[in-house]
Amino acid sequence: MQFSKRLDRFGSEVFASLNARRRELEASGRTVIDLSVGTPDFEPPAHVKNALIEAAKDSENWKYALADLPELTQAVIDYYADRFGVTGLTPDQIMSVNGTQEGMGRMAEALLDEGDLVLVPDPCYPLFRASALIAGADLAFYPLAEENGFLPDVSAIDPAVADRAKYMVVSLPANPVGSVGTPENYAQIIEFARAHDLLIVHDNAYSDIIFDGGEGHSFFENPGAAEVGVEFFSLSKSFNVTGARVSFLIGRADVIAATRKLRGQSDYGMFLPIQYAAIAALNGPRDSVRTQELLYQERRDALCDGLESIGWERPNAHGSMFVWARLPHGRTDSMQFVLELMEKAGVIVTPGASFGPAGEGFVRMALVQPPAVIREAVSAIAESGL
Ligand SMILES: Cc1ncc(COP(=O)(O)O)c(C=O)c1O
Repeated sequence: MQFSKRLDRFGSEVFASLNARRRELEASGRTVIDLSVGTPDFEPPAHVKNALIEAAKDSENWKYALADLPELTQAVIDYYADRFGVTGLTPDQIMSVNGTQEGMGRMAEALLDEGDLVLVPDPCYPLFRASALIAGADLAFYPLAEENGFLPDVSAIDPAVADRAKYMVVSLPANPVGSVGTPENYAQIIEFARAHDLLIVHDNAYSDIIFDGGEGHSFFENPGAAEVGVEFFSLSKSFNVTGARVSFLIGRADVIAATRKLRGQSDYGMFLPIQYAAIAALNGPRDSVRTQELLYQERRDALCDGLESIGWERPNAHGSMFVWARLPHGRTDSMQFVLELMEKAGVIVTPGASFGPAGEGFVRMALVQPPAVIREAVSAIAESGL
């Protein structure tokens, strides 16, 4: 059978090949420490789990949802006002999506035609590339460079490319590079979007994982953001509900209406017990979220201190659940390094090259193990001689 040409736009999945080798090593009795995938090991808060359990007892909640519950939309409005000071959002500016992953794919299909151009960061979370490619668009990269604090540098974008691009994906705190946005940087991005008639698609997955006392923000706190942008706001990492697939697309009503129209062709809405769990998360206490942020910071410290103590350059890690580390001892091939690290140290990390051309020479390490295990991983790396 001849499959679609769309499939040719994607290479093989890095995680799948790393996992296959990991299973082989474990089957042979090796202990493996996995710092590759960003799946939190923390628990969902009890009140969130209980809301889902209670809602699931009611057979009515097993029917097609068809739409977002008004209480859910209101919970998002209240959360944005209370947590970020973003007031005045209206229901036509909010839709639930089955995770940012799915949501960005649907939005891309609603906004893009074959041959359109999308600006994505380099390096970036692979979804930003994949969602545009699925929709048939082409990619243009803009740099998240070390000399610019791993922040978007709009002055490095060719104005002609910006004029041709339909939207630009911005995501801070950034996966994989661990940088955190600043008001000055956002002001430049918004000015640039206005000048080039660009939509900004802001992916806000890590507003609750910012280190050293930094505050989490929404894109919409920045003056002018509401006119130029939309924001994906995922509950996955703040509430450890990655498998429940809960996120929201928020902002420009025209973009929301287009995405809603497309999504309605194939999706009957978020499972109602999950909507109730999301309401509980958004309306409930946030103390577990704060505690967890400090625990991530302890892990960050254990990993960065450890790597520095064995001769690595201190990694960039100000926010998100990732540490972005330059390969040690002049090594440059990240995939080769990762394979050797798995074989010799039993530690799995993600090659920087899988996040884009500028990721080569780096690895990404996920803070998904407690400090003691992270210290074991650092010792194993030191002993491996790599
Ligand atoms: C930047 C970024 N966006 C989105 C996601 C996925 O969000 P969701 O679970 O809502 O699909 C991740 C997960 O790692 C991420 O790092």
